[in-house]
Amino acid sequence: MKILVTGGAGFIGSNFVRYVLKTYPDDQIVNLDKLTYAGNLENLAGLEDQKRYAFVRSDIGAEVEVDAALSAGDFDAIVNFAAETHVDRSLQDAQVFVQTNSMGTQVLLDACRRHKIPRYLQVSTDEVYGSLGPEGKFVETTPLAPNNPYSASKAAGDCLVRAAVGSHGVDAVITRCSNNFGPYQFPEKLIPLMIANCLEDKELPVYGDGMHVRDWIYVEDHCSGIDAALRKGVAGEVYNIGGNYDVPNLEIVKTILRVLDKPESLIRFVKDRPGHDRRYAIDSSKIESQLGWKPSHTFEDAMRSTVDWYLGNRDWIEHTRSGEYQTYYERMYGNR
Ligand code: NAD
Ligand code: DAU
Repeated sequence: MKILVTGGAGFIGSNFVRYVLKTYPDDQIVNLDKLTYAGNLENLAGLEDQKRYAFVRSDIGAEVEVDAALSAGDFDAIVNFAAETHVDRSLQDAQVFVQTNSMGTQVLLDACRRHKIPRYLQVSTDEVYGSLGPEGKFVETTPLAPNNPYSASKAAGDCLVRAAVGSHGVDAVITRCSNNFGPYQFPEKLIPLMIANCLEDKELPVYGDGMHVRDWIYVEDHCSGIDAALRKGVAGEVYNIGGNYDVPNLEIVKTILRVLDKPESLIRFVKDRPGHDRRYAIDSSKIESQLGWKPSHTFEDAMRSTVDWYLGNRDWIEHTRSGEYQTYYERMYGNR
């Protein structure tokens, strides 16, 4: 397969690029990424000389740039990871979220039609379903009810994909996954932020009462789920992907402290996120029964290898936590 991966310099995209190149010796990837604050070519170190891999710095919202990348020809698929992904940032400035996550998706769908790309995969999120009460899990038919600008912009992207299938016969599938963790995750997100703070004996800022529930999946399992949907999914279908490990945030933070042998006195409860969704839990039985996918990592083993990865890559943490990150951290947590 020859795949245009967008957003391949980010956390999940870079793991997916590595996963495909390792799993399919004949596959080729062109990685189109704008390199925002979250895009980092260090995430792809070692691949630069691979003949089956090429990088293009472009914006998915720029039709001319997307056309230029696709004009190399013969693409079998586009897999769209490119997005603004952090809920807290979307609460401060939503416009770029709409531009990339909603309008950028439309640019890619239009390009699929112009270039007759046989398959499109939209990497989406369980956040489009909104928040659950104390019982139940998200299934693919759960109504979309996003509660923050990030999830609203992703839900709009999903609706545009659905419309491209229905109106123009674009062969597209959507995956909706829960919270990922693993190597190369930008340390603005819960798990890498807590690990990085622990390593500096800094306070661990837990929002609200820490009892908000998320489902956690190791990034490699998300990649294999996307891969299953890409190669075997039915056009127009949505596939939920989850790790079957839904627990309160406080439990995750305490696990990290235990693995790193740090005291719970580092925990600091801070002002809650506005509109903070209380509980996510995801039912992945459709992709399991229809496409034969299942996660292959336990939370405990994956968390330990994730911590080991951050311990072994302190330079990476230092680079990502320099520059703009300092301003961001002060703005987000300074007076919280
Ligand atoms: P990330 O923030 O680590 O990376 C996003 C990447 O997209 C970066 O490399 C960035 O440079 C690139 N990008 C941003 N705007 C772009 C644009 N206009 N044009 C081209 N490239 C652009 O994100 P991530 O956590 O790896 O998430 C990847 C995808 O997976 C997103 O679509 C996200 O909504 C989805 N997702 C993430 C999670 C999670 O837990 N992180 C869970 C479910 C779904
Ligand atoms: O559910 C999938 C989504 O998971 C993805 O679509 C998003 O791109 C991804 O960012 C993630 O969204 P969350 O908002 O759930 O992730 P985040 O890591 O920001 O927060 C996880 C939980 O931890 C959430 O309940 C908020 C809380 N939190 C987060 C941070 C950064 C804290 O308590 N303290 C923090 O400092």
